[in-house]
Amino acid sequence: MKTVHVKASLEYDVIIGKGLLCRTGELTRKALGVCSLCIVTDDTVDSLYGEKVENSLRESGFSTVKFVIPHGEASKSTASLVALLEFLAENKLTRGDAIVALGGGVVGDLAGFAAAVYLRGIKFIQIPTTLLAAVDSSVGGKTAVDLVAGKNLAGAFHQPSLVICDYETLDTLTPEIFADGCAEVIKYGIINDKPLFTLLEKGIKENIEEIIASCVANKAAIVAEDEFDTGKRQLLNLGHTVGHAIEACSEFSISHGSAVAIGMVIVTRAAVALGLCAPSELSALTELLKAAKLPTSCSYTAEELTPAALGDKKRKGSSITLVIPYSIGDSRLYKTDVADLEEFIRKGL
Ligand code: NAD
Ligand code: GLY
Repeated sequence: MKTVHVKASLEYDVIIGKGLLCRTGELTRKALGVCSLCIVTDDTVDSLYGEKVENSLRESGFSTVKFVIPHGEASKSTASLVALLEFLAENKLTRGDAIVALGGGVVGDLAGFAAAVYLRGIKFIQIPTTLLAAVDSSVGGKTAVDLVAGKNLAGAFHQPSLVICDYETLDTLTPEIFADGCAEVIKYGIINDKPLFTLLEKGIKENIEEIIASCVANKAAIVAEDEFDTGKRQLLNLGHTVGHAIEACSEFSISHGSAVAIGMVIVTRAAVALGLCAPSELSALTELLKAAKLPTSCSYTAEELTPAALGDKKRKGSSITLVIPYSIGDSRLYKTDVADLEEFIRKGL
């Protein structure tokens, strides 16, 4: 078992271990004391782990209610948010009560946003059950729902009070959803952790506890410096601007993890073409992505990808900040004029 402490506007522990779900009650009681809890989960995760978590919480003296959404991104909507807020009110949760987000990033983002706005803010804990949620979305306090106009367009920064990461739950993920999380894991290695990248080359499943703990420690360090995403935290967007464009061009038939994997290759190849990064780094990245069963190329042109990339939230007026690997373990923010983006993407294809 490993614990990573996050120092943000709220300080909390991320506890990473095998079989922790049975200890949810005991760990939650230490973090929150006894109160009423609303478990938020999706139908798939509920059928696998809902009972175990609910039993553990009840055995530790919590009273619980449960709100179950259909699995999938479509549930990260304003309609789900309003339905959840009404459910919390109907069940008379007070400011002293809390939400438990049990699931992947969809559940975590929705439940976290509800916690941020219900009664102007109540506590919540994250229990991530996908690799992406374990290494990224459950930590750092970004919460959101999607609007018709785009993903994550309404949200708040609201830190959880505790993250319980039982990596045994990853055993029931489909290979595709596990691979999606691997893209985010590899991202941390390229941003600023060469030893992590080397460990990933030895095998992700084989070293999962150490890998999750390293990713969370990386994220915790970045969030401690830039909780509200005005500077260094933007490094976590490596591969994402082009990745979001790939997702949009494919009408979301290419998954987020696959799109980020291709996006990381495109920015790295462009960096090589600009003489900023050695070609050997690009080879190491593509090898690792392939080993993780992730794609490394797509059929879209720079002309198709650029308008979609410019719709990204990271655009500020006439400039956009990309993240460029100078070497594995050394990525930097790279501000470019929107007029130059198409040429940059072309260099990366
Ligand atoms: P997800 O929550 O949709 O989960 C993917 C699928 O896996 C779902 O169908 C779910 O039911 C299923 N699942 C979850 N756990 C399972 C398990 N243990 N066994 C079997 N099936 C399981 O998707 P995700 O990839 O976890 O998260 C994506 C979301 O996270 C996106 O909405 C994205 O915007 C958000 N996100 C947020 C942040 C942040 O910082 N808040 C960071 C990255 C991504
Ligand atoms: N997933 C990006 C962030 O938390 O900033």
